[in-house]
Amino acid sequence: MAESLAAALEREHHEIDDEIEQFTAKLAAGSVEAAPIRHAATALRRHIYLEEVFLFPPLRDAGMVAPIFVMLREHGQLWRTLDAIEAELAFDPDQATLQKLSKELVVQLEHHNPKEEQILYPQADLTLDTDAAAQLAEFLKSGALPDGWVCERA
Ligand SMILES: [Fe+2]
Ligand SMILES: [Fe+2]
Repeated sequence: MAESLAAALEREHHEIDDEIEQFTAKLAAGSVEAAPIRHAATALRRHIYLEEVFLFPPLRDAGMVAPIFVMLREHGQLWRTLDAIEAELAFDPDQATLQKLSKELVVQLEHHNPKEEQILYPQADLTLDTDAAAQLAEFLKSGALPDGWVCERA
């Protein structure tokens, strides 16, 4: 049986968390290794895209207006933290600044992801019609963030 949408979306959260953790562990040990956090940032932006484009609209149509309002606002905060981290990495990265920013990112995700996992994701498999579910599943497998896309509340 195919993996449920809820399980696939939750798995992405954990994969992104693991990469951030790799970055922060190195950082705590005194070295700035950009690859894992750059990869996590790309993956998180893509994850935000697929939620805002494929997942949230049908859930909103099904009546989950308030939780989606909150999720969009939190996506905006996450997006700006990623911008700040990437800007810091781009030129003469400062370890203390990266420590502060990556801590912020972790705290934001600790607030955001459990709400999605408990409130929204369980509805994904119940609410999305066959076409919408297939589109989301296809994007999860191989879709890329379109160039220049920014989240609704960035
Ligand atoms: Fe999200
Ligand atoms: Fe998510």
